[in-house]
Amino acid sequence: MEHTMRNALGEAVRAAHTQIPADIRCAADYERHAIHHIEAQAWQHIQSGADQNLTLSHNRAALDALRLVPQPVADLRHAHTRIELLGQTLASPLLLAPVAYQRLAHPEGELATVRAAMALQTGMVVSTLSSFTLEEIAQAGQAAATEMGHSTPRWFQLYMQPAREHSLQLIRRAEAAGYTAIVWTVDASIKRSGFALPHGVEAANLRGMPSTQHTPPLLGPILFGTPLIQQIPTWDDLRWLRAQTQLPIIVKGILSPAQAQQAVDLGADALIVSNHGGRVLDGVVSPIEVLPAIAQAVQGQVPLLLDSGVRHGTDVVKALALGASAALIGRPQLYALATAGLVGVAHLLHLLRAELELTMAQLGCATVADITPAVLWQQR
Ligand code: FNR
Repeated sequence: MEHTMRNALGEAVRAAHTQIPADIRCAADYERHAIHHIEAQAWQHIQSGADQNLTLSHNRAALDALRLVPQPVADLRHAHTRIELLGQTLASPLLLAPVAYQRLAHPEGELATVRAAMALQTGMVVSTLSSFTLEEIAQAGQAAATEMGHSTPRWFQLYMQPAREHSLQLIRRAEAAGYTAIVWTVDASIKRSGFALPHGVEAANLRGMPSTQHTPPLLGPILFGTPLIQQIPTWDDLRWLRAQTQLPIIVKGILSPAQAQQAVDLGADALIVSNHGGRVLDGVVSPIEVLPAIAQAVQGQVPLLLDSGVRHGTDVVKALALGASAALIGRPQLYALATAGLVGVAHLLHLLRAELELTMAQLGCATVADITPAVLWQQR
């Protein structure tokens, strides 16, 4: 694989390779380094899953349980990893999932991540809860993409705000800043978190808006019968969202075939099959397990994406084999960002791309269209 780096950003990425720990062999190796670069409470917040971490560990176990079947004899002279998604071309079927408050991992936060993503032609989803504004991130991303001489999509992830006018403001700002899709996250409107943001890290997009209450109080009514209940998304929200924007709408956090179908019926352009990296509810089915049933339900009407537990190029291939068009990584971007900033994220993406290409080559897949259930042993 070769990335053309003929300019300042490329030079910076190359020169700073010295910052990358020498013992990193695969993308997953960044995790053990990151713990030494992130403050203890922030580390706990990033790492933790819901309650006993059953969902969190199951996400990995379900991916690990799948076995690939190599087909090493193949003509791969015209092989590539490109995909078309929602009318946009992506260099590979791997994207960065929305991850909030990236300044917890590095002072340059999302600005470093977006520069690295654009340098490595990787689509990025920017969180509502980013620690730089969506405009600042768009500007940094656009400058990097221009410098590299290509365009790579950036999408905006929307958490609905208590007042629709504020949600609408975010949508309009995302449109104006050049984001090319809205990712509406439905699975984390209510979750428990005892994490208090450290000084200097804030939800930059939400300045001047009332803060969203995510954490039920310890005493008194918990959720039912309280105003918190209004934060739970309804299908009416999707109807409203559909009426507000021409941008493609991607619904993130779907695990039920019936809800997948409903979202498509109401105008969703794509779905992200996700359990939020095991952070919301413990004991939840893993996206890779439910993906075939969701693919069956939506019958190819919209592309399906998958996240939660993806750590290696082989995981991307497993997701594609079971019906996904692309996969996203969440925590690993923070691991690499904390360890080596922009260069770390660029290196992580390079490693994942290399793992993906090597896996495809071993499986005899010249394009992602060749990645079918036949590459998996137990699906035969
Ligand atoms: C997230 N995730 C998330 N999702 C989202 O839609 N908006 C957000 O702001 C965030 N923020 C966030 C912060 C942190 C610290 C984590 C770990 C995750 C969920 C994320 O997009 C993705 O679904 C999971 O991270 C995928 O699982 P893995 O790759 O972390 O296992």
